[in-house]
Formats: sequence, C-alpha cells, structure tokens
Amino acid sequence: MNKTWFACLAGMAALIGSIPAQAEVDIKAGQIDAYTCSGCHGIPGYMNAYPTYHVPKLGGQSEVYLISALNDYRSESRSHPTMIAQASSLDDTMIQNIAAYFVSLRSDEKGGNQFNPLDGDPVEGEKKSLACQACHGADGNGIDPQYPRLAGQYADYLAHSMRAYQNGDRDNIIMVGMMTTLSEDDINDLAAFYATKDGLIDLTIR
Ligand code: HEC
Ligand code: HEC
Repeated sequence: MNKTWFACLAGMAALIGSIPAQAEVDIKAGQIDAYTCSGCHGIPGYMNAYPTYHVPKLGGQSEVYLISALNDYRSESRSHPTMIAQASSLDDTMIQNIAAYFVSLRSDEKGGNQFNPLDGDPVEGEKKSLACQACHGADGNGIDPQYPRLAGQYADYLAHSMRAYQNGDRDNIIMVGMMTTLSEDDINDLAAFYATKDGLIDLTIR
C-alpha cells in the first residue's frame, strides 16, 4: 500500500470516527454559536478571576459530558455565574451543535502543560487515584464517555471542581459521595496526578 492511499484511508477512518450520533447535528452552526466561548476557552492559559483558576480545557473532552455539563449550568445544578449565563442563552440544539463542533476540533497534538502549575504531588496522587479508576480509568482518560476526561486538565481547575462537589457548588450525586472523605492535600495530589497525564488539550477555536 503506498503512502497516499494509506493517508486517504486514515482520513476516511478519521471522518467516520467523527460522525456524530444524531444525524441532524450541525457543526457549522455550532461553530457560529461557539463564537462567544472562544474569549475564554479558546485562549490557552486563560484564568477565571475570582477565585483564580484556569478556565478548563475542552479539547478532547467527551461529547456526552460536554452536553451534560452545559445542561447542569443551565439548570443551575452547577453554580458558576458566567457559565450559567452562557449556557442559559443556548437551547438543546445549540448545545448539541457546539459540543459536536468542539469534538471536531480535536487534534492529536499534545496539549503542552506550560500553564499547568501543580500544588500537589503526582506520585502521591497516583496512589490515591485507585478509588477513581473504576470510572475515570487508570490515567484519567475515562472508561466511558459519561465520565469526564481528567487527563491533561489544568491542576487548579481540577482541584477547584473537586472542592465544588464538597461545598455544594455542584450537586452530582456520584462525585459528591466520592469527595466527602478527601482532605485538601488529597485533592491537590489527585489534581497533580491527572494534570500530568496526556489527554485534554486547549481548543483552538477559529
Ligand atoms: C468568561 C469566560 C467564559 C466564557 C465566555 C465561557 N466559559 Fe465555559 N467555563 C468558564 C469557566 C471559568 C468554567 C469553569 C466553571 C466552574 O468552575 O464550574 C467553564 C466551564 C465550562 C464547561 C465545563 C467543563 C468541565 O470540565 O466540566 C463547559 C462544557 C463550558 N464551560 C462550555 C462553554 C461554552 C459552550 C461556552 C460558550 C457558549 C462557554 N463555555 C463560555 C469560562 C467561560
Ligand atoms: C462511580 C464513578 C466515579 C468515580 C469512582 C469517581 N468519579 Fe469523578 N466523576 C464522575 C462523574 C459522573 C463526573 C461528572 C459529574 C458532573 O457532571 O458534575 C465526575 C467528575 C469529576 C471531576 C470534574 C471534572 C470536570 O471537568 O469538571 C473531577 C475532578 C473528578 N470527577 C475527580 C474524581 C476523583 C479524584 C475520584 C476519586 C477520588 C473520582 N472522580 C471518582 C464519576 C466518578
């Protein structure tokens, strides 16, 4: 098999892999609707102001989880004022289209973790992550699309989101249960472990 033919096959495989589940999903419309998202999620290393932590990476995140998270902001079962306002301006179709657009942007380049400072110890975090493997996988890449990818995410965002399950800012019943016994050190170590794995990348929104 020559190289051109191989590249062509690989291209077709990539195309088939990216066809979304619902036929009516409109990636072009998603791109237009995602315009306002780029001001935060399209800038590598961009920070949330109060409290200060990195705006989460969405490149490589599972489509099912992106939709579920946006629904949770819209229903205010997650309490972040800006994201509640953003998600409330979207209907179900727009959410589907935006999620499909984000997934279509996935490339295989690694994220580069230059904006990802660690407060915890990744080696300790790996030991503590045994309790998380059943859903998030051994390296944080998730055993199923319903579980968010944690690998490569900003450590300070991971720690912030874990605290949000502890303090009631997020009400997901599974994660609230998982977080009850964790100390601040546990949270920082776990965040450091997942942040140093390969997985999520910054979105390059055009
Ligand atoms: C002003 C900055 C800003 C804008 C604009 C913005 N976001 Fe966000 N987004 C954030 C921050 C900060 C968080 C983390 C919130 C939290 O702590 O729960 C977030 C969280 C998310 C999450 C959850 C990620 C996860 O890992 O759970 C999704 C999905 C998301 N945003 C999608 C969008 C979409 C789609 C748009 C555009 C319609 C958008 N955002 C616009 C700042 C922004
Ligand atoms: C039984 C399955 C399960 C187990 C075990 C589990 N999680 Fe989760 N995790 C989930 C689900 C489901 C979500 C999405 C919750 C939501 O929508 O808010 C999640 C979300 C998260 C998030 C938020 C990600 C984001 O992008 O905002 C973090 C961080 C996290 N889990 C860390 C952990 C850690 C650390 C452990 C082990 C101590 C763990 N989880 C154990 C199912 C699980």
